[in-house]
Amino acid sequence: ERKAETAASIRLRKGGEPIVCLTAYDAPTAKALDSHCDLLLVGDSLGMVVHGMDSTVGVTLEMMILHGQAVMRGADKALVVVDLPFGSYEISKEQAFDSARRVVAETGCGAVKVESGIYAADSIAFMAERGIPVMAHVGLRPQAQLVTGGFKAKGKTDSERDMIIAEARAADEAGAFAMVIEGTDEALSAEISKMVSCPTIGIGASASCDGQILVTPDMMGMFAWTPKFVRRYADMAGVIDEAAAAYARDVRARTFPGEKETYRLKKS
Ligand code: KIV
Ligand code: NA
Repeated sequence: ERKAETAASIRLRKGGEPIVCLTAYDAPTAKALDSHCDLLLVGDSLGMVVHGMDSTVGVTLEMMILHGQAVMRGADKALVVVDLPFGSYEISKEQAFDSARRVVAETGCGAVKVESGIYAADSIAFMAERGIPVMAHVGLRPQAQLVTGGFKAKGKTDSERDMIIAEARAADEAGAFAMVIEGTDEALSAEISKMVSCPTIGIGASASCDGQILVTPDMMGMFAWTPKFVRRYADMAGVIDEAAAAYARDVRARTFPGEKETYRLKKS
């Protein structure tokens, strides 16, 4: 039987068997995913895929803590990592530590993740040295989309590639225990994965990474549209549509509830 994963055990898997990661936002889904995954990320993608927001910039620390608590109740073996949302860590390393401390203390999760431009390296080191394992996130950074102009793959120009490599190196040297690489081509992902000492977890970043992650509702087929890099493993939207249609039909025909679903209490 596999022992519970920690940031330290994930870090040791550089170059080994691929690290299996998915996002989770609630207890029952976390419970269903737990035995299959090494790491469950409570991503700030929940703003979009759970709460229907247009982007992740409106997600709050309180939302992350509430969903983090739910996932922790469902997870057993996988390492649970909770995203620090936009605005909760960028101002200073002290702000980052305080937000991360709240997340760890109030959810019991094993690590936090920050989208990591160069600016984040000081905060990653500050948190890691003080007892909070940090996962970095380079390449396409959704929290920066108002500046970068949306959800587009990164690394088309030499200067962009150099910047992403510098961000990855800075996060690695700052002590990140792992890093997500999002939306980069194979050559760039491979170069970063070779260069950094921590495991890389790819999303739209090729098979050259040390592990993979997808947004669970995307890979479960909850949405009509997904990015190119998503593989659909189920048709959850279809399953829900069929079940809802069948239920509506039964209610309207008064065939639900039936005999089996009806209480007939004996008076006492
Ligand atoms: O918020 C999220 O789900 C993420 C993953 C896509 C890495 O950051
Ligand atoms: Na995220």
